[in-house]
Amino acid sequence: MYNMEDDIERILLSEKDIKKAVKKMGKAISKDYADKNLMLVAVLKGSVVFMGDLMRAITIPVNIDFMAVSSYGSGTKSSGVVKIIKDLDHDLSGKDILIVEDILDSGMTLSYLTNLLKQRNVASIKIATFLDKPERRVAEITPDYCCFTVPDEFVVGYGLDFDQQYRNLPYVGILKPGVYEK
Ligand code: IMP
Ligand code: MG
Repeated sequence: MYNMEDDIERILLSEKDIKKAVKKMGKAISKDYADKNLMLVAVLKGSVVFMGDLMRAITIPVNIDFMAVSSYGSGTKSSGVVKIIKDLDHDLSGKDILIVEDILDSGMTLSYLTNLLKQRNVASIKIATFLDKPERRVAEITPDYCCFTVPDEFVVGYGLDFDQQYRNLPYVGILKPGVYEK
């Protein structure tokens, strides 16, 4: 039987390390937003796994919503084009928005998104990213919360995909080079 794990060259972040880091972030957010009007906005689809864990690590009342934007095609490089595929269902007025992302890479996606959401009467807007890949940054943007900084390598798992696959890996890993040539 085919097992996704056979395509992984090495594990970068274990399930245990991830759990610990997400818990810690949830705790910090709960403290920082105790007197605020917190709303988590997750960017589909990469951030669903992180969102699920992060929201359960937050101990204060919270609203959630989802947005879908186009980022990567089936390749491993950013197209630089950001298109809204699904907008939010909720009114953002007076809300303290925390954008939940899987990875901050070039920063093009989040730079565009934060500017867009800023125009909707929000009380504040910040970024919580699971991973940060600062070496690849093009847009001027830094995360307010980040679980791990990763080197300039293409990673999969814990929501992150290659060609829509591997999102369900419970850890973060690097693919064997042969997988890209398939
Ligand atoms: P950015 O606009 O370049 O910051 O692109 C961010 C998006 O690209 C993320 O939300 C991911 O969907 C995708 N991405 C960037 N790097 C990786 C990676 O190493 N693995 C999987 N997806 C990635
Ligand atoms: Mg994404």
